[in-house]
Amino acid sequence: MTDAGRILAEEIQREGPIPFRRFMEVALYHPKFGYYTRGKDPFGRAGDFYTAEQIQPVFGILMARYIRSLFDEMGGGTGVVVELGAGRQEMKLFLPDLEYIPIEAGKGAMPVRFSGVVFANEFFDALPVDVAVLRKGQYRQMLVDFDGSGFVWRDGSVVKPEVREYLHRFAAAEEEGCIREVHLESLAWVGKISAALEHGFLIVIDYGYTRRELVRFPRGTLMSYRRHVASEDVLQDPGERDITSHVLFTAIEEAAAAKGFHTAAFESLSRTLLRAGEADRFASVLEGVSESEQLRRRLQLKTLLFGMGETFRTLVLGRAQNKSGPDSPGPL
Ligand SMILES: C[S@@+](CC[C@H](N)C(=O)[O-])C[C@H]1O[C@@H](n2cnc3c(N)ncnc32)[C@H](O)[C@@H]1O
Repeated sequence: MTDAGRILAEEIQREGPIPFRRFMEVALYHPKFGYYTRGKDPFGRAGDFYTAEQIQPVFGILMARYIRSLFDEMGGGTGVVVELGAGRQEMKLFLPDLEYIPIEAGKGAMPVRFSGVVFANEFFDALPVDVAVLRKGQYRQMLVDFDGSGFVWRDGSVVKPEVREYLHRFAAAEEEGCIREVHLESLAWVGKISAALEHGFLIVIDYGYTRRELVRFPRGTLMSYRRHVASEDVLQDPGERDITSHVLFTAIEEAAAAKGFHTAAFESLSRTLLRAGEADRFASVLEGVSESEQLRRRLQLKTLLFGMGETFRTLVLGRAQNKSGPDSPGPL
């Protein structure tokens, strides 16, 4: 059994079955044994998965361009870029003229009040979620139990009011047995960003769906990754594999709108990168490097524009200058 698994099994033996959100929290973020906190690099060829952000330098050059275009929209000049779930801090190198603040699980903090850009690549999909299942017209919380040899799912009691409210808004009129993830932590992060960001943009890049697309996932979207193999069994080997839940973009968008943000863009990642690159026909990416490096970058471009870039989406939320403080809706 993994170390995180032992901690979870002991907790379950002591207190009974636990909400999936708690399981995911320990599996990914236990201070010593969590997948992201145990000190082992999960990314790249020797790790478990690649993110688009790790396709460097092409991702960094184009995304930095896009971020600069947002600063231009804000009136130019320099400012702060806060990266949520910064991982290897891949964007730092490409933003030398801006103040770059990385925030990682348990490390770093958002400035109290600032103007600039909050950048989140595959951050929201890594936040712990509750899971609910529809039984006889009522959503029940899905719990994790330990049966002596492994972790198993159990139906729990009817969901709490805040979970019910979320499901009512985003997963109404579903079929019996339908499984839904509930992203309350994502909404809490929108609140934190809103409380701090006076003027600027939030860029969310992730895979996910809108409220209308939800019907495509009747069994939910939880996935786990280990050594580049995806599995739907997210209860296996806690602490040694990544666990993700697709982002519900509509929930983030509506929570931000309620705080005075407007949607500046919602498109495929390839579209965002294409727009950033087409201004100089990708010269900033392809010129002034050796032939072999150019070939490498062309392959990266191909992956970002036609592969991963089609799967991932960019949601950009903007907040205009707000004289009365970050958390009251500004003039849009
Ligand atoms: C899938 S990784 C993405 C890393 C990087 N952005 C990239 O695309 O390569 C998700 C990251 O979010 C971080 N993370 C999760 N919860 C967090 C939290 N509450 N505060 C800060 N970072 C968090 C994880 O530790 C992990 O580094």
